[in-house]
Amino acid sequence: MQNQMFNSNKFKLGIFSPNCSGGMAITKVPERWDASWENNLKLAKMLDEAGIEFILPIARWKGYGGETDFQGSNLETISWSAGLLSGTKRITVFSTAHTSFHHPIVAAKMFSTTDQISSGRFGLNVVCGWNAKEYEMFNIDLPDSHDVRYGYGQEWLDIIKKIWATDTPFDWQGKYFDLREVYGDPKPFNKSGPPIMNAGSSEQGQNFAAQNANYLFTVLVDIESGASSVKNIKTLASKYGRDVGVFTTSYVVCRPSDSEAKEYHEYYANQNADWDAVDKLMELQGLHAKSFPPEAFKLYRDRFAAGHGVYPLVGSPDHIANEMTKIYNAGFSGTTITFVNYIDEFPYFRDEVLPRLEAKGLRLPNSQ
Ligand SMILES: Cc1cc2nc3c(=O)[nH]c(=O)nc-3n(C[C@H](O)[C@H](O)[C@H](O)COP(=O)(O)O)c2cc1C
Repeated sequence: MQNQMFNSNKFKLGIFSPNCSGGMAITKVPERWDASWENNLKLAKMLDEAGIEFILPIARWKGYGGETDFQGSNLETISWSAGLLSGTKRITVFSTAHTSFHHPIVAAKMFSTTDQISSGRFGLNVVCGWNAKEYEMFNIDLPDSHDVRYGYGQEWLDIIKKIWATDTPFDWQGKYFDLREVYGDPKPFNKSGPPIMNAGSSEQGQNFAAQNANYLFTVLVDIESGASSVKNIKTLASKYGRDVGVFTTSYVVCRPSDSEAKEYHEYYANQNADWDAVDKLMELQGLHAKSFPPEAFKLYRDRFAAGHGVYPLVGSPDHIANEMTKIYNAGFSGTTITFVNYIDEFPYFRDEVLPRLEAKGLRLPNSQ
């Protein structure tokens, strides 16, 4: 079976973070996302039928506090992806793995098992670490040095790929792992293995993605700077003789008119934001630095409340389709999207925005 990440749609779409309570919206509104298994399965079937390419989870081990404990309840992403893949037919489902929390021999087998369950519809998001509170819970040091974080991640991924590529046991003596007679079977469903993504933003993270990933996911601040970061990432990847697709990540509030969308945005992301959780998340991500100019701080604080800091797509179906076209023209291969309540809001997006993207030639009509 073809993994949907390799289909011929010019602008691909994925749903981000439905495995976490609140999804990406740090809000107290009662309709905020309940990340139950039942909701996740119902959503995945809806997305599968609509021809959406992928679902991307967030691997989270601890919530961000506040009244809602944003993302405090979260389905573990490898077992979650195995469940969703067996309940769907076409869609790609990613798992997100923290390199430090999964031994590579165990990880290689969990990923290849999930890929076998789905006849090759699995995808892997590699995270090399940033969340100090979670590392404390595991009593694992989060290295200060990005060279160490990504050096460890490189060895972790090299071991996994070698297990997948080798039929005879091998010894591994590296800087971080010392292993004997390493072996794993089954292998992934396709010889090429599952598509790999990474969302590192540091220089080391971008180098890691350029060397290892099929896709780099990057946060979009504005279209102009987005276009130049796509160019830089493509240039970096070409130095390693590789082509890396660049995706971004956005949140959607789509209503019949721009003013209705803005009104709902004001209601959930300002009047009813869970500001304590917003501040905790921003602090953990290092965005409370004193050097941050106040206007930029306010912009980011608002974007964090509304969608975890990602790019806003707020308006009518025409507005959303036009914005997505600008993102495509900036060089992006696609974007993830999120909603306050995925199940309530996705059908309107499917019925109104997808046909507009097809009319613009960015996507082909859905063929069941
Ligand atoms: C689309 C996307 C998905 C991500 N998924 C996760 C995740 O599931 N878990 C997590 O801890 N970090 C996640 N991150 C964080 C990044 O993987 C990365 O660790 C962070 O941006 C810091 O990168 P840096 O250390 O290279 O600066 C995600 C980021 C983006 C943009």
